[in-house]
Amino acid sequence: MAAVVEKTFQFVIVGGGIAGVTCVEQLSSQIPSAEVALITASPQIKAVTNYKQVSQTLEEFDVEERPSSVLEEKFSNLTVIQSAVKSLHTQSHSVETADGQVFGYEKLCICSGGRPKLLTQENPHVLGIRDTDSAQELQKRLSNAKRIVVVGNGGIALELVYEVEGCEVIWAVKDKAIGNTFFDAGAAQFLIPSLEAEKPERDALVKRSRYTTEEPAVGTSHTFTADRNPRGLGVGPTESGSALGPDWHEGIALRGAEQVSRRVSVEYQCEVEKIFTSEELLNSQQQTLEPENAGAWPVYIQLTNGKTFGCDFVVSATGVVPNTEPFLHGNKFALADDAGLRVDEHMMTSEPDVYAAGDVCTACWEHSALWQQMRLWTQARQMGWYAGRCMAAHVLSEPIELDFCFELFSHITKFFNYKVVLLGKFNGQGLGSNHELLVRCTKGHEYVKVVLSGGRMVGAVLIGETDLEETFENLILNQMDLTRTHGSSSAQKTLQQ
Ligand SMILES: Cc1cc2nc3c(=O)[nH]c(=O)nc-3n(C[C@H](O)[C@H](O)[C@H](O)COP(=O)(O)OP(=O)(O)OC[C@H]3O[C@@H](n4cnc5c(N)ncnc54)[C@H](O)[C@@H]3O)c2cc1C
Ligand SMILES: *[C@@H]1O[C@H](CO)[C@@H](O)[C@H](O)[C@H]1NC(C)=O
Repeated sequence: MAAVVEKTFQFVIVGGGIAGVTCVEQLSSQIPSAEVALITASPQIKAVTNYKQVSQTLEEFDVEERPSSVLEEKFSNLTVIQSAVKSLHTQSHSVETADGQVFGYEKLCICSGGRPKLLTQENPHVLGIRDTDSAQELQKRLSNAKRIVVVGNGGIALELVYEVEGCEVIWAVKDKAIGNTFFDAGAAQFLIPSLEAEKPERDALVKRSRYTTEEPAVGTSHTFTADRNPRGLGVGPTESGSALGPDWHEGIALRGAEQVSRRVSVEYQCEVEKIFTSEELLNSQQQTLEPENAGAWPVYIQLTNGKTFGCDFVVSATGVVPNTEPFLHGNKFALADDAGLRVDEHMMTSEPDVYAAGDVCTACWEHSALWQQMRLWTQARQMGWYAGRCMAAHVLSEPIELDFCFELFSHITKFFNYKVVLLGKFNGQGLGSNHELLVRCTKGHEYVKVVLSGGRMVGAVLIGETDLEETFENLILNQMDLTRTHGSSSAQKTLQQ
């Protein structure tokens, strides 16, 4: 490495997403005299706005894309460098950018996020959604589309199938129920009628989260239709950026070429077997093709349940892969099974003076019994903020303990236009059969599920305006024995109100 070091900063943060920006803000306000650099590939940064602490652990905020100059105006000792990091040299404590500049650091925090896992390499008929650019590409292609296939069962897929109008959607999920990442069978059952119903004329912000169900058997499919007058095209954002967050489809009308407002068929418990062109289809003499699928679709997708569908394009919404590549070469980072950079309870990677936060990292400290990592906005903000505090504490030789926000998993979101609150081990994660569920459900109104383990509340799913979040958060944090204190469980009583 012969390149000359341009400048050495005390702190260098890579990535202008929520994690990176929050880390920069924390460092710059905690140590105003420190020289901080934010190196980011996109011209826009993500800013948290309207932050609101809803309860002890629940937080709500909006995310906005802003020009990076906004940050520099706020913190005079901050330099924003717009370029992608190409390589990292942990030995010499320097990073090299795509335009050939080299910057030194005393402490580095990698917040480079993730990118969509794609089903296939470089197929023009397969789209992943990650940033504003890809969302706009989706919108453009949707306007001429009659049918699309959405693959994936996380939050992005869920929102997409709910939002797309004027285009038939075939939704392939690998689980027994929709929204597996966030929901159980019951919750999915509760939500499914929303796919059939007309969308409210003016949608409240639909923030995404992840969910699951239990009902339909292998190979089954459901179709939901709703007709509605098409609404006008929205004005889309114009700049590219980092991962979209809540409301990524706000202002981007997802309209297809057809008049029908929503028509979604779900194919359960299947994955993608093969994706091919109409030519390849003819050559392979597919037997399973139903008549409505014949003809000249640009692309065909064969599912593991044996069905083949023709469509205009496929949307791959099967999760993210941490953006680690530029940092790995020549270094010895410990990686987790999900390919994230392993970080300890101080957000430190296995390389000296290198921290990581947000989607790029995997939390490898010993988790609280009520917390799990999920690649969400809230956690990107919390990790970025905590990483900043740890970096500051380390240069100031101050002690620092794992923050309280990692005590209890909590997430608040909107899904299919319902308010959704997830607490703790909301899906009995890691509890095996050692748990009980209490459920209260009023169709079209609310769904409340409590997860009990050894008589103690360890998780909850609240859909609708239940107003139970603070009470349940307290019951979970206190770990009160609900069987002994009240004869019949107080959780049950709350549910029976
Ligand atoms: C379509 C979509 C919808 C979502 N909806 C929600 C939601 O409703 N609620 C929710 O909680 N979560 C949601 N998420 C997840 C959420 O967006 C992520 O968890 C969060 O954005 C992660 O933040 P981050 O800062 O770690 O990474 P990112 O936001 O991905 O930011 C990474 C940054 O690093 C930069 N970068 C990458 N590589 C380099 C490099 N080599 N050099 C320099 N810079 C680099 C990028 O340009 C970017 O600025 C959604 C994700 C997607 C894709
Ligand atoms: C920037 O850093 C210098 C010292 O390096 C310090 O004197 C100055 O106050 C800092 N600026 C702000 C706004 O804190």
